[in-house]
Amino acid sequence: MKRILLTGSNGQLGYSCKKDLSEKFDLICTSLVKSKGTLQLDISDRVAVLNTLEKIQPHIVINLSAFTDVDGCEKNPHLANKINFEGVKNICDNFDGHLIHISSDYVFDGKDGPYDEFSTTNPISVYGASKLKADEYIIKNKSQYTILRANVLYDYHKKTSASFLKWVIESLQQNKSIKVVNDQLNNPTWTRNFSNVILKIIKKQGHGLINYADNGLMTRYDFALKIANIFDLDTNLIEQIKTEELKQEAKRPMKSGLITKKIENNFNIKPVSVDSSLHKLKKLVFNKK
Ligand SMILES: NC(=O)c1ccc[n+]([C@@H]2O[C@H](COP(=O)([O-])OP(=O)(O)OC[C@H]3O[C@@H](n4cnc5c(N)ncnc54)[C@H](OP(=O)(O)O)[C@@H]3O)[C@@H](O)[C@H]2O)c1
Repeated sequence: MKRILLTGSNGQLGYSCKKDLSEKFDLICTSLVKSKGTLQLDISDRVAVLNTLEKIQPHIVINLSAFTDVDGCEKNPHLANKINFEGVKNICDNFDGHLIHISSDYVFDGKDGPYDEFSTTNPISVYGASKLKADEYIIKNKSQYTILRANVLYDYHKKTSASFLKWVIESLQQNKSIKVVNDQLNNPTWTRNFSNVILKIIKKQGHGLINYADNGLMTRYDFALKIANIFDLDTNLIEQIKTEELKQEAKRPMKSGLITKKIENNFNIKPVSVDSSLHKLKKLVFNKK
């Protein structure tokens, strides 16, 4: 049985990866803060990374650890670089096996998306720049790697704090009105679909830079409406606004999203539709049809 080291396992995608990979692999999970069933690992600590890799001797490392607070990265570029670039470099430099790393559509400027694997990168935020620096380092220095590029991941779980879907559902359930931007385009992707893709990519030995996103390019506002409709919540509570009204610290790529032709053609992986994903998630979490 292959041994996999999964870093950042207490995050949003980590939760789904644990569900999909734990029975098929010898899965060793790490987290920044020690918790039940995980080893503590700060990927920005070079010695700790080296010691963990020596102790575990994994065949594959899946790195999900990242400083994902986009505005937080803008305020603290040093920390963004330390975790999102140097942390990844620490793994790269000390591990000879297959590294699976997750990149982001924030490596693009969002002027002319959706983007494929050949599109020109041009990050407009500290977060995007730190993610791109890591991608470039992996591509230059690692022979066995898969960089899976993702955009707008969501899930519903009591431990997920950064999920747009969870925020929409919980706000509307409590009758709170919400303001959602109508000028950012993406293809929202359920973390369970993404962890399934990781599983398939391992089986198919997929290497290189590969996009995955669920099928459905839409604005955040349209996604919120879709969530409300599918979860039987009041769409009147959703007000549409422009991104600039939020006065966020970091710029966002506006016309973004990912093209998935490569994963479809080369690996026969078909993106799941956003609608069917939301219906499935509803059934799974709320036991409702
Ligand atoms: N979420 C999205 O929409 C999205 C879109 C595109 C790409 N991605 C990428 O997908 C990957 C997984 O994202 P996610 O949504 O699962 O993010 P997440 O929920 O924020 O999880 C990231 C995890 O990294 C951990 N972490 C932070 N600093 C660390 C450090 N120094 N050492 C070790 N672990 C550290 C965090 O630990 P704590 O829980 O203890 O803070 C957290 O559990 C990331 O690489 C992210 O850049 C995400």
